[in-house]
Amino acid sequence: MFPRLDLGHGVGLRSRHYGEFLESQPKVDWLEAISENFMGTGGRPLAVLDKVRVDRPVVLHGVSLGIGSVDPLDEQYLKEWKQLIDRIEPAMVSDHLCWGRYQGRYSHDLLPMPFTEEAIGHVVSRVQAVQDRLKRQLVLENVSSYLTYPASTMSEAEFTAEVARRADCGLLVDINNIYVSAKNHGFDPKAYIDAMPLEHVAQFHLAGHFNRGDLIIDTHEGHIIDEVWQLYAYAVERLGRVPTLIEWDTGVPDLETLLAEAEKARVLEYETFERANAEAEKVMLG
Ligand SMILES: [Fe+2]
Repeated sequence: MFPRLDLGHGVGLRSRHYGEFLESQPKVDWLEAISENFMGTGGRPLAVLDKVRVDRPVVLHGVSLGIGSVDPLDEQYLKEWKQLIDRIEPAMVSDHLCWGRYQGRYSHDLLPMPFTEEAIGHVVSRVQAVQDRLKRQLVLENVSSYLTYPASTMSEAEFTAEVARRADCGLLVDINNIYVSAKNHGFDPKAYIDAMPLEHVAQFHLAGHFNRGDLIIDTHEGHIIDEVWQLYAYAVERLGRVPTLIEWDTGVPDLETLLAEAEKARVLEYETFERANAEAEKVMLG
């Protein structure tokens, strides 16, 4: 299991807002920092991270671990990552359930896994190696995808849940990614959420995307659309209060707009619980 933290609703720490975080105390429950932007470096970014860490929890989120790749784990990466973790003491450390490197060549995409028993065994052994190295649990995020493999023998949700159970790691359930992949591949996004193992769910992500018509692309740009908000409410209903992050990485808006999106998530979570409580009361009163 992964202990459920009560962090609230956070936003990403992005360079556009460094000045505001250095000069004032913007009100936000927690911040997510992209690990690689702060690894093996010093200067202003690290000074900002050191400062914001004092006032609120920080979560480190990586994009290039490549937990599903078959290349050996990158020792230099692990070393610099561990140094950053020891310095920042993040509330959570996450990366993606994907692969992105083959024979030393990096893809700039987070590529989906084949959903097979063999791939589960491979990923689980690598998660365990990373967790031993970091001396803490890793949190893995479901990616959005545009392709599937004929070799897959199970659904993505089954695969993801089984990795979490066997590796005993946390799951970062990206609601927008579920929506994007569900539309692209034609599966039921609610059934995906239903399949998530409650005791491993560590965090939710919410983001905007680009709908091309024939394909939905996960751009992390713009406001979250209504259907994704509805899916978030469903996830809250099914999985409970989970630390939630607003991801907005392309065309990053002013901080006020970003924080308003986090506030919207907070209100929706509250209303979802209120509604669920009122319904439960109605049932109890007969
Ligand atoms: Fe995400």
